[in-house]
Amino acid sequence: MTTRLLVTGAGGALGRHVRHGLKGCVEVLRLSDIADLAPAEDGEEVVRCDLADRQAVEDLARDCDTVLHLGAISVEADFDGLLQANILGTYNLYEAARKAGVRRIIFASTNHVTGFHRIGETLDHTSPRRPDSLYGVSKCFGEDLARLYFDKYGLETACLRIGSCFPEPKNRRMLFTWLSPRDFLSLVRSLLEAPAIGYLVLYGASANRRAWWSNAHADFLGWRPMDSSEPFRQAIERREPADVSKCQGGRLATVKTHAGD
Ligand code: NAI
Repeated sequence: MTTRLLVTGAGGALGRHVRHGLKGCVEVLRLSDIADLAPAEDGEEVVRCDLADRQAVEDLARDCDTVLHLGAISVEADFDGLLQANILGTYNLYEAARKAGVRRIIFASTNHVTGFHRIGETLDHTSPRRPDSLYGVSKCFGEDLARLYFDKYGLETACLRIGSCFPEPKNRRMLFTWLSPRDFLSLVRSLLEAPAIGYLVLYGASANRRAWWSNAHADFLGWRPMDSSEPFRQAIERREPADVSKCQGGRLATVKTHAGD
């Protein structure tokens, strides 16, 4: 059993979900964010920390055996912001984890690392990355850093390329990319509990019809999604005109990152 799980980005949408959902699954949840968090309850520790502050992150990871690394800018943004939070922040986290002897990290990557692949292609962990945004590039950095830390130091990582994790799918694209909060939680639990994962790249999506991504290589986890976007299809298709995007990343693949240039 995980003794002390550090959750970065604990104040965000997924972090708040995990805070309730993992209660009782780990001995101590150490919750951290750059933003204010609700005070610690039983079995919790709350630490405010900017991931870009190396010394603070080193202190943060001490005594933890696993990390769920959610802390990041989670949308397309200017490079300087991504550099601090996602690139420097993830480097600081891996260095701190190595020094603390952390066994395993679940890294919240994104489907946007392969967002320039066409709709209609089925991707898996061996598909070339084609990031659709600077945000996607920042997560590619995290995936490669994780690879290095496994090969060099044996620090295990699951790079979880999350689809769209919201209470409900909001548009046509999410009919394919939706990951229900319940399935997200059960996937995180499987990744925490698996005896050995090494360096693992997998996608996070519910059992939606016509999947874009295959996780066949991760069957050993025994994870089975419970939900599907299908019950939401009719309402979304009625409400929304047909999606014109040709790329899996949707809007992020078409929006100009350097607006005005
Ligand atoms: P969110 O934006 O709601 O939460 C991210 C949290 O990270 C925020 O609470 C923010 O304050 C914190 N943070 C940002 N910069 C920080 C810094 N420098 N130091 C410490 N904390 C910092 O995002 P959400 O939806 O909870 O996503 C969690 C993770 O999962 C993110 O890494 C995101 O990129 C990834 N992800 C989420 C998806 C989704 O559908 N929700 C889809 C794909 C990836």
